Amino acid sequence: MGLLDGKSGVISGAGRGIAGATADLLAAEGAQVVIADLGVDVDGTGADTSVAQLKVDEIQAAGGEATALQANVTDSDACDNIVQTCLDTYGKIDFAITAAGILRDRALVNMSDEEWQGVIDVHLNGTFFLARAAARAMRQQRFGTIITVTSISQEGNFGQTNYSGAKGGIASMTYAMAVELSRYGVNVNSVLPSAFTRMIASIPGQEEFDVGKMQPGSAMGTAEHVAPLFAYLASDEAKWITGQVIALGGERLALWQHPREKMVITQRNGFSLEDLRRAIPATFKGRLEPSGMAQTSYREIDFEAVAAKK
Ligand SMILES: NC(=O)c1ccc[n+]([C@@H]2O[C@H](COP(=O)([O-])OP(=O)(O)OC[C@H]3O[C@@H](n4cnc5c(N)ncnc54)[C@H](O)[C@@H]3O)[C@@H](O)[C@H]2O)c1
Repeated sequence: MGLLDGKSGVISGAGRGIAGATADLLAAEGAQVVIADLGVDVDGTGADTSVAQLKVDEIQAAGGEATALQANVTDSDACDNIVQTCLDTYGKIDFAITAAGILRDRALVNMSDEEWQGVIDVHLNGTFFLARAAARAMRQQRFGTIITVTSISQEGNFGQTNYSGAKGGIASMTYAMAVELSRYGVNVNSVLPSAFTRMIASIPGQEEFDVGKMQPGSAMGTAEHVAPLFAYLASDEAKWITGQVIALGGERLALWQHPREKMVITQRNGFSLEDLRRAIPATFKGRLEPSGMAQTSYREIDFEAVAAKK
C-alpha cells in the first residue's frame, strides 16, 4: 500500500532534479504521474526531447505508472494539454506540481531583457498557466492540490533580480490561489527546496557537494531529501494545510512566515510630509530588517557616507 495509491497528477520539470526525484517517489507511493519537461539547459536554452521519456522509462522499470510530455510551461496551451493528458489518461487530477525552472543570473545593471523575461516566463508564467489549468479541472472535481515551488532567493539574492522576483511572486500567487480555491476543496501550498542539482552546480562556488560530508542540520541535501515533502503535501493527510510555504533541504524542515506588517502607527487625518520626516526616523529607526539572503545588506543606509564615497 502506497500513501498515494489511486492518485494521479502532473509535475512540470520532472525529467530531472528535484521534480524528477519527486516523480520517482510519487510513483513509488502508487501515484500515476504525467511527466512534463522541455528538456532544456539550466538557462532555458536547447530542448532535449528524450528527458521526459527517460524519466518515464525509469519509473516504469521500477514498476510505476507515468506518461511523458515534452511540454513548454511558458505556453498556456501546452499547460492546458498537460492537465488534459492527465484527465484523458488517468481520469482525474489529484495534484499539480509546478516545478519547471531555469536560472539566468546577472547583476541588475547588466541584466538583459532576455535574461529578465526568460526567467519570468518559465517561473511566473509557467506556474500561472499550469496552476490555472489544474485549478479549472479541480474546481469541477471539487478536490485537488496544487504545489508550487518557491525559493529562499525571494529574500533577495545578488544577481537574481529576475529569479528573486519570480520566486517571491510565486509565494504570493500561492497565497492568492489558496484563498480562491479553498471553497472548492482545493489546497495550494509552496515548497521551498534546497537540493544539490545541476541548477545549484551552475552557481559559481557551488559546483560540488558531497552528501557524505553533510553537517548536522545542513540545509543543503539531495533532490531525494526534498521529494518526501511533495509526496506528503500531495496526500490526503495534508488536506488541512493550505496557503503555506514549507521549506525542506537536507536535514532542515521549516515553516515560513507570511508577509505581514511589522509595525504600525496611526494618526488622525493621515501623515503630511513633515509628519513623515519626524515619524519615520522616530519610530522605524533601529527596527529595519536586513534584506538579502545573506542578511548582510546595508542596515539603515548612511546616505551621506555613500555620497561621500562617490
Ligand atoms: N535546487 C535547489 O536548491 C532549488 C532551490 C530553490 C528552488 N528551486 C526550484 O526547484 C525547481 C527545480 O529545480 P532543480 O534544481 O531541480 O533544477 P533542474 O535544472 O535540475 O531541473 C529543472 C527542470 O525544469 C525543466 N524546464 C525548464 N524550463 C522548462 C519549460 N519552459 N518547460 C518545461 N520544463 C522546463 C528543465 O528541462 C529541467 O528538467 C525550480 O523551480 C527551481 O527554481 C531549486
